[in-house]
Amino acid sequence: MKIIESSRELAPFQGGSLVATMGALHEGHASLIRTAKLAKHPVLVTIFVNPTQFGPSEDFSRYPRTLEVDLGLAETAGADAVFVPSIGDIYPDGIEIAKRQATELALPPTANQPKLEDAGRPTHFGGVCQVVARLFDLCRPSLAHFGEKDFQQLRVITQLVELNSDRWQALKIVPCKTVREPDGLAMSSRNRYLNVTQRQDALGLWRALQVARECENLSNAEVMMRATLEQHGLDPEYAVVRSSKTLCAIDATTNSARILVAAKLGEIRLIDNAPFGN
Ligand code: PAJ
Repeated sequence: MKIIESSRELAPFQGGSLVATMGALHEGHASLIRTAKLAKHPVLVTIFVNPTQFGPSEDFSRYPRTLEVDLGLAETAGADAVFVPSIGDIYPDGIEIAKRQATELALPPTANQPKLEDAGRPTHFGGVCQVVARLFDLCRPSLAHFGEKDFQQLRVITQLVELNSDRWQALKIVPCKTVREPDGLAMSSRNRYLNVTQRQDALGLWRALQVARECENLSNAEVMMRATLEQHGLDPEYAVVRSSKTLCAIDATTNSARILVAAKLGEIRLIDNAPFGN
């Protein structure tokens, strides 16, 4: 497996399968890499903790950085190369200018209409679209794999590519299923912040999704989810059933629905989602 530290060395891996990450890799990331490997293209993993997608009160400086372990996990999962760009590779004009530019980007509707992640984290998807666009331009992948764990992010990136089909011709976004711990908790780099009690409480997200799946009526589902989150000591931010496509309220044109939850345990913010009704 090749370790690439400068975008000048990317050429042999262009046209392949991309798995973009912020590191602190776990089985969820490994499953993306394994799925990418099935396509028989070279698999390029990127590790870059992107400052522009973190809000001022978020955990950028304490986001876990575990590069040595990450390289081992990526190699075992089948990565052919790992690109660990410098800030200068991604943001040649520097972080301050990049942060301003991220707030000025025209974003796909799923990035600012649903009022889900975008409500609590208003600058987040500007930063995600900015870094993903830069990675697509540098790596020129034919496939890019993203997890359903971050369902709104997956929809935003899918729409970004649809709306810029001339810029990333023939790029296909591949959605990958959420990988969970045996008890149902979705794997996340942030799970390592949970203490033993919080780890138990965090299961409330998974239980809320199960409760909602058993409800036939949408407003019942939303009420029951909030109650379940609160029973587990979680502070709900949103607990909703939405169109899987637009992530906005369900209407007569909706043919697939998604349950989406976000809740806080003290300072730790957790998200999860699942299909509704199928
Ligand atoms: P990160 O949180 O490192 O996640 C990288 C990829 O792994 C994303 O596509 C995410 O949805 C996927 N992933 C995380 N946990 C998963 C799980 N339990 N099961 C399946 N897939 C999972 O998401 C980001 O980084 C960044 O926003 C990024 C897209 C790299 C842009 O900076």
